[in-house]
Amino acid sequence: MTDVSIAANNTGAVRMTAGERAGIPPRRMDFEFSADSEKYWLNGSPFLTLLVSALSTTFPAGETFFVDSVRHYRDKITDQKLKDEVAGFIGQEAMHSKEHMAFNHMMDERGLSGSGLERIADWTVSILKKLPPKLQLAATCGMEHYTAAFAEYVLRNQALQDLFTDKKVLNLWLWHALEENEHKTVAYDVYNAVGGGYFTRILGMIVGSIALFGTVFVGHLRLLWEDGALFNFKDNAKGIWFAFGWRGVVHDLVGKLFDYFRPGFHPLDHDTVELLEEWREKMFADGGILADQIKNPRRTAA
Ligand SMILES: [Fe+2]
Ligand SMILES: [Fe+2]
Repeated sequence: MTDVSIAANNTGAVRMTAGERAGIPPRRMDFEFSADSEKYWLNGSPFLTLLVSALSTTFPAGETFFVDSVRHYRDKITDQKLKDEVAGFIGQEAMHSKEHMAFNHMMDERGLSGSGLERIADWTVSILKKLPPKLQLAATCGMEHYTAAFAEYVLRNQALQDLFTDKKVLNLWLWHALEENEHKTVAYDVYNAVGGGYFTRILGMIVGSIALFGTVFVGHLRLLWEDGALFNFKDNAKGIWFAFGWRGVVHDLVGKLFDYFRPGFHPLDHDTVELLEEWREKMFADGGILADQIKNPRRTAA
């Protein structure tokens, strides 16, 4: 079967991509970020804004790595549903990279190293690429668990959303968060389908964590330095407490993150079905927050 099939309905033939069939529709967005918009768009904080910006610079290389590690095993997948899900996963990640590159290049216009940090992420990925393919896929599964857990946290947390004072930036992260949860099972199911075991899965999680957090940490330090905020002790202390302190982001997430180490863990154990239905409605129904933004509007259904 090809990536495009024909499904008939009352109004005639409708072409569906494999991703749409699987409920993982790649949506083409075209965010335009302006360097003239608000500089510190996350709670007015340089620390938090630049932390999330540093994360953004890891996505083009990181998500290409995720796609490559799954694509490596594509020919070994026999289940048609999983094949369709892989097609949707690849399409969604490609769109995420494109939009985050647009954001990163806006950082360049502000005099920050958006593109420069993308090169650091490229270097990290070049190291990961030297690992055995099964371990690369395990690292992808681990990092996809992070993205799914953080994404669910963002979608459920109105107070966090309210801290974004630039709604265009918020919409970028909400859209990305939705799709990360739509495809959160794909790398994991491919890993299981090709005989991946527990030990390698956990090793991949550890390797992926070091790669991700090491790259974000270096990028964050560089952005703080470039912005002149490295020695802004008050804001930095508040940001560290917000992220790592009591009732902070990590505190709220630690249970979900460590659940990955349970031998029988599966991404569907964290149920987001209703959450995603609610957000698809909020984003893409008539008058939705992204209804005018999406460039292929039919591809909104799951
Ligand atoms: Fe993504
Ligand atoms: Fe993803």
